[in-house]
Amino acid sequence: MNISFELILVGVCFTLFSISCSNDTQIEGPQVPGFGEDANSDNPSPNMSDIFDLDYAYTDLQYPPHYTSVLDEDNEPNNNRVNDAEANLGRVLFYDTNLSVSNSVSCASCHLQSNGFTDPDRLSRGHAGGLTGAHSMRLGNIRFFESGTMFWDKRANSLEEQVLMPIQDAIEMGFDDSNGGLEALVAKLQSIEYYPNLFEQVYGSDEVTTQGIQRSLAQFVRSIISVDSKFDQGLAQVYTANGRNNGVNQNFPNFTASENRGKALFLGRAGCDRCHNAITFALNDNARGNGLDIGETTVFKSPSLKNVGLTGPYMHDGRFNTLMQVIEHYNSGIMTGPALDNRLREGRGNNDVERLNLSDQDKVDLVAFLHTLTDESLISDPKFSSPF
Ligand code: HEC
Ligand code: HEC
Repeated sequence: MNISFELILVGVCFTLFSISCSNDTQIEGPQVPGFGEDANSDNPSPNMSDIFDLDYAYTDLQYPPHYTSVLDEDNEPNNNRVNDAEANLGRVLFYDTNLSVSNSVSCASCHLQSNGFTDPDRLSRGHAGGLTGAHSMRLGNIRFFESGTMFWDKRANSLEEQVLMPIQDAIEMGFDDSNGGLEALVAKLQSIEYYPNLFEQVYGSDEVTTQGIQRSLAQFVRSIISVDSKFDQGLAQVYTANGRNNGVNQNFPNFTASENRGKALFLGRAGCDRCHNAITFALNDNARGNGLDIGETTVFKSPSLKNVGLTGPYMHDGRFNTLMQVIEHYNSGIMTGPALDNRLREGRGNNDVERLNLSDQDKVDLVAFLHTLTDESLISDPKFSSPF
């Protein structure tokens, strides 16, 4: 068992080495040895692989050819590129209820893998039973929202900035100033048997650091990539390597007639692809508001629509319970306001909004298409599941 683990590590370390060699950019941050590399041989620590599965490969994802044209939309920063050691640590942190003051909630409590990493409840319960102010967000394909700003209202500038915020949120995980802030969390993790060992194996020092928590959580979340939905399988069959979206407008052999009609509507007459980019289904950076409320001034983002069919409710406040209600909003419910995207305005006056005039069959077809974005591989992949 130990021997085969070390053999895997040799492979992992070799992969890391080749990645850093082929990349000209200076990698900032701490040195990252592979798991099991003994950073301090005077002080042998229990092998954490006996407690957790820590040998998942996050860097071995083979993007299908139809992703080639969208890889430049990736928001991964050069100073925090995903590597297997840190992403494995990120997985432990993501699922650990010790990250909340009362040991009751982890990141995964509100971002459930089985639900595409969101919460089926409209609002989520935090560490003391309080409710969040917004609906939770799916986490797949986060790296393809090109600007990398996070939260519905984009108030976090990057995923790295975002991952520490729920921890310090008074309602979510409770390490706000009144509870000692991040310093208290670091001291708490330092006193839990496995964290000094994990940090030693990842960073070469048994000192738990805010920077390590931040880097590794962001790497784990950014690793959640969807490439195997029914949509991806269909596109792979008809894809021709000739520019963006090539083949996407053809009928997919694995789709029903209704799904193919829904795809044509999404990409064409209903205009959804103007904002929700086909292939990754992350929102286009230049998308503005979708007209939920009259007079709205905040420009919200949407998480990628991958896995949107797994669970509602929908929108930042979870106002719609079903995808049919979402479609009806775009069909007949757009409200005008300062944040409304120009693409949803129609006609001469500013108050004219787009009305799609979809038939009942069109609506059914669009919903059928949205369900083809479900990625069963992603929601059952053990490397994104709980290590506890
Ligand atoms: C108590 C529930 C709860 C917990 C715990 C929680 N989240 Fe969230 N998460 C939410 C909600 C709600 C939102 C949307 C909030 C908003 O936009 O105001 C969100 C948004 C996010 C986003 C933004 C996604 C995007 O596309 O912009 C990321 C990333 C995220 N959470 C990661 C995490 C991580 C990592 C943790 C653990 C450190 C965590 N969350 C803990 C409820 C939670
Ligand atoms: C002008 C850009 C734009 C267009 C066009 C557009 N959307 Fe959206 N969409 C958004 C924005 C922005 C949000 C997030 C709004 C919010 O929650 O405040 C969103 C949210 C959604 C959601 C909910 C996501 C979630 O996680 O809750 C779905 C589903 C959706 N859109 C589907 C569609 C479909 C289907 C179409 C075509 C009929 C479409 N959108 C057209 C911008 C757009």
